[in-house]
Amino acid sequence: MKILVTGAAGFIGANFVYYELAKYPDDEIVGFDALTYAGNLETLDAALKCPRFRFVKADITDRAAVEALFEKEKFDIAVNFAAESHVDRSIEDPGVFLRTNILGAQTLMDAARKAGTPRYHQVSTDEVYGDLPIGRPDLLFTEATPIHTSSPYSASKASADLLVQAYIRTFGLPATISRCSNNYGPYQFPEKLIPLMIANCLADKPLPVYGEGLNVRDWLYVDDHCKAIDLVARTGKVGEVYNIGGHNEMKNIDIVKLILDYLGKPESLITYVTDRKGHDMRYAIDPAKITAELGWAPETMFADGIKLTIDWYLANKTWWERIVSGEYQRYYEKMYGGR
Ligand code: NAD
Ligand code: TYD
Repeated sequence: MKILVTGAAGFIGANFVYYELAKYPDDEIVGFDALTYAGNLETLDAALKCPRFRFVKADITDRAAVEALFEKEKFDIAVNFAAESHVDRSIEDPGVFLRTNILGAQTLMDAARKAGTPRYHQVSTDEVYGDLPIGRPDLLFTEATPIHTSSPYSASKASADLLVQAYIRTFGLPATISRCSNNYGPYQFPEKLIPLMIANCLADKPLPVYGEGLNVRDWLYVDDHCKAIDLVARTGKVGEVYNIGGHNEMKNIDIVKLILDYLGKPESLITYVTDRKGHDMRYAIDPAKITAELGWAPETMFADGIKLTIDWYLANKTWWERIVSGEYQRYYEKMYGGR
């Protein structure tokens, strides 16, 4: 099989590249990424040494580049991870979210249609469902929950999902969609809650907790997400949406305290800051469908996954320190500048 992974230099895309390379020794992977501020080619260092992996630097909204690639490579599966992914940035500057997340998905799907690609998978998010109230553990997001977005980020992801569904119905595009809860694990960009708190803790910097820290997220270890996407993209029913989550709801403040405790740092580092605008209160996924239809179940308990993650950030300080300093953005020039 030949698989296209867009957003391959980002957090989940890169973990997916490693997951696929390890699981399918005969498959070829083409990693595709524009290397925005969130894309880091160093994350793919080990993959780049593998002859079954190639990297293409391009933008998913670049129609000519995308269509030429699909035509030439004849992918068996295209998995779209490429996106602007940070809610806070979408509040500052929505435009690029609409361009990449909506028009980028459209461009990829048009290319898939033209090339006759047998499977297209759209990586979406539980944020398209809006939020749930605290204190109602009986309420969970199912695939039938109405779309109800809060941020420009979630609105852009929901728009892409609607477009995928329109392409399935109108053009018969053989596509699937998955909507996952918050991921954590190695290679997450240190602007998101868990890696930001780890990095700040290690530098003895204040830990900025939005509002009162009572918002709830449903955390899933990134490998469990990769396993689910692999199942959906290869064996999921065309035209269907699958929710992915491991029943692991936690308050932000409890995660921050857990990180402080593991690293032996004082709670006096916690600093409550102005809340995010439109801040979703609670996310919680019902994964019954993917479990029943595809036999998926999470394998990493949060208590283990968070230790694995903190240990990874401790062991790979240069990776995130180079991001924090901006040094990593010069890496591509060094690697590819003269080629
Ligand atoms: P990320 O920000 O770490 O990575 C995104 C990658 O996409 C980066 O490498 C970036 O360079 C690339 N990219 C951005 N714009 C591009 C463009 N125009 N063309 C080509 N490449 C471009 O994000 P992530 O956390 O790895 O998320 C990956 C996908 O999973 C996203 O679609 C996101 O919506 C979805 N998702 C994320 C989470 C989470 O908790 N992180 C949860 C559910 C769903
Ligand atoms: P984030 O990692 O940005 O993911 P998302 O907004 O997509 O869920 O944030 C997770 C939660 O942590 C969210 O409720 C906002 C909160 N948060 C903070 O309290 N402080 C921070 O510095 C960040 C980045 C997030």
